[in-house]
Amino acid sequence: MAIKNVMVIGAGQMGSGIAQVCAQSGYNVLLNDVSEDALEKGLSNIEKHLTRSVEKDRISEQNKSDTLSRLKTTTDMQEIAHCDMAIEAIVENMDVKSNVFRDLDANAPERAILATNTSSLPITEMAAETNRPDQVIGMHFMNPVPVMKLVEVIRGLQTSDETYQAVADMARNLSKTAVEVNDFPGFAANRILMPMINEAIYALYEGVASVEDIDTVMKLGMNHPMGPLTLADFIGLDTCLYIMEVLHNGFGDSKYRPCPLLRKYVNAGWLGKKSGRGFYQYN
Ligand code: CAA
Ligand code: NAD
Repeated sequence: MAIKNVMVIGAGQMGSGIAQVCAQSGYNVLLNDVSEDALEKGLSNIEKHLTRSVEKDRISEQNKSDTLSRLKTTTDMQEIAHCDMAIEAIVENMDVKSNVFRDLDANAPERAILATNTSSLPITEMAAETNRPDQVIGMHFMNPVPVMKLVEVIRGLQTSDETYQAVADMARNLSKTAVEVNDFPGFAANRILMPMINEAIYALYEGVASVEDIDTVMKLGMNHPMGPLTLADFIGLDTCLYIMEVLHNGFGDSKYRPCPLLRKYVNAGWLGKKSGRGFYQYN
């Protein structure tokens, strides 16, 4: 089945990035969010990044306007009826995602693939909310989507080979490298990354070193492009906490317990860069 029309659900930092790369690669994109504000912000971020690419001579002005002409926004999820595929990128919460998957299943054409950009939640469980578990799959992009090359493609228990192949092909069309992963909490990327970030937060919590020094250790000592606390702010501290909770509950192993300081910051509304305050302050 040829995929041409894609609905991206959630216009936050991930959804807007996914919408951008899909439109740049020739797909018609309908960007959906419950919030008009989020749609406006998402679209304006996409325009900003495209303008920067024109200024840097990476794309032409024509390419930018063609990309924007393939992008539409909507708050009406029923418009999935005109799409070949959904890529869901809303909050990392199973109940909220399950509701969206039930709605998508009820309104999408029978042939449509339902993909999720979840960072850690079980694909098999989301698939079980639908009448097409063979057409449900994880398509996990990395942040910032236009820059990062990796897409984890995660098979749920019932995902068909045909669905896997269509999504792996699409990732290649987006100039990404697809890696096949099975459905375990946190998949591969966050099972490895998030305990490191959580440990960095424990190091801060226990007074091992300051925020800046912990980041410097990992940047200069391990050549990471961002220190773990900067990266946590960049990902969103709420998302980091949800992922640690999925690992902790999913494996039942205390080594994944979220650091109390992470929980405290999220409870305070310090969600990192997107809220203006996390381990660092942002203007
Ligand atoms: N959207 C689009 N482009 C962006 C961007 C964004 N949000 N942020 C940066 N860029 C682009 C910039 O425009 C810049 O391109 P040009 O200068 O060539 O135009 C390029 O990326 C480099 O940016 P900067 O020079 O500003 O800064 P940098 O060299 O420090 O690179 C970075 C920024 C690419 C984000 C780099 O710091 C990095 O790789 N950080 C680590 C990111 C990472 O680990 N991501 C994975 C997070 S985990 C995840 O995504 C999974 C999950 O489920 C939580
Ligand atoms: P975000 O908070 O920036 O954006 C989420 C958006 O979803 C918001 O605009 C919100 O209004 C919208 N939304 C919430 N409920 C909705 C609904 N029912 N219908 C439509 N829109 C709805 O979050 P994000 O960082 O973009 O993360 C989104 C997803 O991507 C999460 O599952 C997260 O785990 C995953 N992810 C995040 C990162 C990251 O670095 N932040 C990386 C990879 C994957």
